[in-house]
Formats: sequence, C-alpha cells, structure tokens
Amino acid sequence: MTLTASTDQATTAAEATAGAAGADAAAAADAAAAAGAKKKVIRIAMNGITGRMGYRQHLLRSILPLRESGLTLEDGTKVAIEPILVGRNAEKVRELAELHNVEHWTTDLDAIIADPTVDVVFDASMTSLRAATLKKAMANGKHIFTEKPTAETLEEAIELARIGQEAGITAGVVHDKLYLPGLVKLRRLVDEGFFGRILSIRGEFGYWVFEGDHQAAQRPSWNYRKEDGGGMTTDMFCHWNYVLEGIIGRVLTVNAKTATHIPARWDEAGNEYKATADDAAYGIFELETPQGDAVIGQINSSWAVRVYRDELVEFQIDGTHGSAVAGLNKCVAQQRAHTPKPVWNPDLPVTESFRSQWQEVPANAELDNGFKLQWEEFLRDVVAGREHRFGLLSAARGVQLAELGLQSSDERRTLDIPEIEL
Ligand SMILES: NC(=O)c1ccc[n+]([C@@H]2O[C@H](COP(=O)([O-])OP(=O)(O)OC[C@H]3O[C@@H](n4cnc5c(N)ncnc54)[C@H](O)[C@@H]3O)[C@@H](O)[C@H]2O)c1
Repeated sequence: MTLTASTDQATTAAEATAGAAGADAAAAADAAAAAGAKKKVIRIAMNGITGRMGYRQHLLRSILPLRESGLTLEDGTKVAIEPILVGRNAEKVRELAELHNVEHWTTDLDAIIADPTVDVVFDASMTSLRAATLKKAMANGKHIFTEKPTAETLEEAIELARIGQEAGITAGVVHDKLYLPGLVKLRRLVDEGFFGRILSIRGEFGYWVFEGDHQAAQRPSWNYRKEDGGGMTTDMFCHWNYVLEGIIGRVLTVNAKTATHIPARWDEAGNEYKATADDAAYGIFELETPQGDAVIGQINSSWAVRVYRDELVEFQIDGTHGSAVAGLNKCVAQQRAHTPKPVWNPDLPVTESFRSQWQEVPANAELDNGFKLQWEEFLRDVVAGREHRFGLLSAARGVQLAELGLQSSDERRTLDIPEIEL
C-alpha cells in the first residue's frame, strides 16, 4: 500500500481530522508546507489504548509526544501524526480522547480498519485477539505496528509474516528492550570487541506480582490464565529471543522448565481464580555469534521472586577479555586487566567489595523512551516505504522460542530451533 500522504491527500486528511492538540502537528506541517517543504500526515488507529502498555508506553510516552513534535524527514518533509483511539468501552475511550485532546475515537475496530484514510493500525489489545486484528489490517492494506507476541501459535505467527510480506506493507513489532539505554550500551561493548570471545549471557528478570487478595495485583489477571493467552513463557520468551539475537546471535536450542508457583490469584473484581498459566520460566539456550562462536544463554523469568538487584531485569555477559552487566538503564563493565583474583575460602569473611570493582559505561548520547524511539524509526520506514528491521518474521521467531520453551518443559528435554522460512 502507498501511504495516503501524497501532499494533496495529506492536506485533506489533516484538515478533516485536525483536532485541538492534534492540530499542533498538522499546523506545524502546514507552516512547513507554506515555507516550501513537503508535508505528510500519518493517521494511526490505536487499538487497546485503555490497557497498561497501550496507554502508558504507546499513547502517553510515544504517540502524543510525536504528535506534538511531528517528524522531520531528511529532505525537510514534515510528517504530522494523527492518532485515532480505538477500544471496546466507549466511555473509557472517550474519556482518554478528551483528556488528551484526541479528536477521533471509535469503538468500531472493523470500520476503522476499513477506513481508507487510516495508514497504520496499531494493536496493544490482549494477546489472544491480536492475530485476527493484524490479519484484517493487512488485508486492508494497512501498515501495522504491534505489541508482542504477534500470535498465540507459531503457525499463526508465520502466517502473519507471510501475509505481511505478500501485502508489501511495513510491519513493526515492539522490540523495546533493544532500544533501552542499558542494552544499547551492552550492544556497543559487543560491537567494540570488548568481551573478546563471548562465553555466556545470563539474565535475571522478575519481581513479586501480588496475588490480589490483600494487595491488588499489579498485572492483569489474564496474564495468569493460559486460556486467555497468559503465561510467563508466552509473555517473555518472545522478548528474550530478540534480545539474544540482537546482542549475541542466533538461538539454536532451548531447554526450559516452567512453573506455576502461585496456583490461585484474585482478579480485578476481587474474585479468586485458578492460575492456569506458568508464572515462572527457567531457560537455557545455546546461541551462536555471527562469527560462529558458541555461547551459553541462561535466563530466569519469574513473577514470584523478590528483587535484590539494581533493576527488574539484568543481563551479564562474560567473555575472555571482559564482562558487563546491564539493566534497563545502567551498564557496568570489568576488563580482564581489572579482574580481581578471589580465592574460595568459606572460613573467611569477604574482604573485597566486588560491586565497586566495575566501571560504569557512559551513554554518550541522550536516549529517549525505547517505545518512542522504535515508533519513530517505524514511522520513518512507513513514509520511506521500506521494511522495518524488527518485523513479523523476527516476531515469529519469538513466538517459536516461547512455543518450543513450553514444549521443552512439558517433554523435559532440549529442543532444536529450526530456521523459519517464509
Ligand atoms: N513490550 C512489553 O514490554 C510488554 C509488556 C507487557 C505487555 N505487553 C503486551 O501488550 C499487550 C497488552 O498487555 P497489557 O499488559 O497492556 O494488558 P491490559 O490487560 O492492561 O490491556 C489489554 C487491552 O486489551 C483490551 N481488551 C480487548 N478485549 C479484551 C478482553 N476480552 N478482555 C480483556 N481485555 C481486552 C483492554 O480493554 C485493554 O485495552 C499484550 O499482548 C502483552 O503481551 C508488552
């Protein structure tokens, strides 16, 4: 599909939709047009914006700031961003639209997907509803940007990737962790050869999610029901796949043990329910760097642990020449020459302050919110009519890792990860 934003059409779309604050971006684009620069408008139908991720990360932290600033392309073209809020509950959606001065909102997902003035369909609704929405959007020639996982089964995730390829649209799937300052620094160390030969990567992710009886749970109840698309493995292995691929290299095998540590929880209405999905997954992965080196990966993911770490997720890479530990923001490193030489002696108290022996890796740049950075990159790809680097195939590999992780746990064995071909 070609973007509706040829100069003339864009003007029409902008004039037809410019609401109070939405008019800011369109006005900026108009000013640019008056000054001779080209202008475009991208209309984004945003589904699932009443949810945690849809509201906080995508609407509040990404699209509203981008609506304010607009995008300026390399050739000077100004791109105005126009969100349309979509949800099931009219009251809630209208409230959000009014709160944020978004003129257009609807409860009719099918109609907005079919609307020819809409360029991008975004989905952050619950996982089990996603594939159907994305298929409809692509069938209508829309570009798509979506939360992960793209589907509940590998078969469906591959089908989505095939549809996306055939439709020739630009598809983006949230790979937010790779845009986070901590992981950007970690990847920089890899690129600079800091580690020498990389031996292993270990990840520790998790925190205590309250059961919901005495204290309300801080995650939605469907996360703990398998029949509603919940589960730690389904939720997090798709992240771990792109993190491992993006930092180290291909994931060749998986051996996982999942658990449902907390068997009963209380939902949003205060009713007790049975937790049918896993709330923890302990995974071991065999990886291969682009240079062909074998690396062992190990990641613990749990909603039933208490945090004694600096951040909610941390990764440690150990290599022959150095090691580093990265969280969402911070990254510290230790070179071979600065490595202490502890001697194991349980009879003596620890004499060294190991944490103080690491050096902080600087950001050397202002790093914005990860979701916003990916949105911006994606929207630039949409306008340029090119592929986004984190699309439906990468997402399918994430779904594959989750599916094989669950299978590995059920069958109590290591599974090879076959390469997906479209
Ligand atoms: N990228 C990340 O780090 C990250 C983190 C958490 C969740 N997610 C993904 O984002 C998506 C949304 O997760 P969330 O935590 O925001 O969930 P949430 O429950 O807070 O939001 C779900 C959204 O779906 C809507 N919805 C539509 N039909 C529904 C139904 N029948 N039942 C319940 N809700 C329904 C809700 O109204 C709400 O807008 C999930 O696919 C999840 O995997 C991504």
